[in-house]
Amino acid sequence: MIRWGVVGPGAIATGFAEAMQLVEDGEIVAVASRSAARAETFGDRFGIATRYGDYASLAEDPAIDVVYVATPHSRHEEDTVALLRADKHVLCEKPFALSARQAWRMVDEARGRGLFLMEGIWSRFLPAYRALVDVVGSGRIGEPLLVEADFGFRRPLDPDHRLFRADLGGGGLLDLGIYPVQLCSLLLGRPEHAAAEGVIGETGVDEQVAAVLRHPGGKLGVVKAAIRVGMTCTARVSGTDGAIEIPALMHCPDAITVWSGGGSEVIDGSYVGNGLRFEIEEINRCLAAGRTESPVMPLDETLALASTLDGIRAQIGLVFPGE
Ligand SMILES: NC(=O)c1ccc[n+]([C@@H]2O[C@H](COP(=O)([O-])OP(=O)(O)OC[C@H]3O[C@@H](n4cnc5c(N)ncnc54)[C@H](OP(=O)(O)O)[C@@H]3O)[C@@H](O)[C@H]2O)c1
Repeated sequence: MIRWGVVGPGAIATGFAEAMQLVEDGEIVAVASRSAARAETFGDRFGIATRYGDYASLAEDPAIDVVYVATPHSRHEEDTVALLRADKHVLCEKPFALSARQAWRMVDEARGRGLFLMEGIWSRFLPAYRALVDVVGSGRIGEPLLVEADFGFRRPLDPDHRLFRADLGGGGLLDLGIYPVQLCSLLLGRPEHAAAEGVIGETGVDEQVAAVLRHPGGKLGVVKAAIRVGMTCTARVSGTDGAIEIPALMHCPDAITVWSGGGSEVIDGSYVGNGLRFEIEEINRCLAAGRTESPVMPLDETLALASTLDGIRAQIGLVFPGE
């Protein structure tokens, strides 16, 4: 049984706790909030025995193997490094950090201590994404040459919401754009260059962004993300002998459609319950096997994603306080 701790019991941590109920070889044994009352509420809701009113106490708890960091992006580096220094393995929510510089510090800390660390790109563990990788690898659509993907919603302008707060690392690129970018990297290899345009809104974060990624071997990724513009939230992979359509929502589809040889096939990738369970199961497997990285979402991939996002940020003028 892998013993999990949860730090930052907000929206996604709630999904994580629901997902854990479907996992046989893991359980949440402790939760930490900045507020003792919120830790109690979360603990009561999910039957978690130990509740802490600060994050540092959870880090010191010897009865925890691995911690899920579900705080806003602006805290990921600080929270992850503190946990690693307390000898905990860590699953850190996406985006891993605000910048590649922060990401490197986190990775160095984990590697230096021989601890497990992974960015929570949960899409890659879903049945539809596994099918996607298999189909592309099988050559059914020939050589993939182009990935087009977008993820965006029109949200009401709310300066208090984390997505609109520059101090919490808000904006569309880091929160949503990471999904299209990681899809391009997964299927086309790590990007060599990005050309981007974006719109910074009145709260100082990107409200919409579009980028063209150049990948090795003459391949392109075309990605968009937004928090103030509705998008299709779909993706399409075009190859020399066919194509694959990924329906909305492109980061957690329940099927993919493969077009090849003059016909099409829908491959079912549906699942029951919260899809975060697949990444939890992967980490439990990794920890049981003594691995410090997941081969599905390795740290070099996380560093490359962070570097691509840095490149896009530089071109659209997205700067966070204190940088
Ligand atoms: N994988 C996914 O599908 C997915 C989905 C949504 C979000 N995420 C990622 O998960 C992270 C959290 O997102 P969320 O939507 O769960 O956010 P949220 O609902 O605001 O929860 C974040 C939690 O972090 C804690 N926190 C610590 N410092 C904070 C601060 N300065 N301001 C606000 N909260 C702070 C809070 O808990 P306490 O104060 O109680 O400690 C809060 O409940 C983000 O990095 C986001 O990108 C991933």
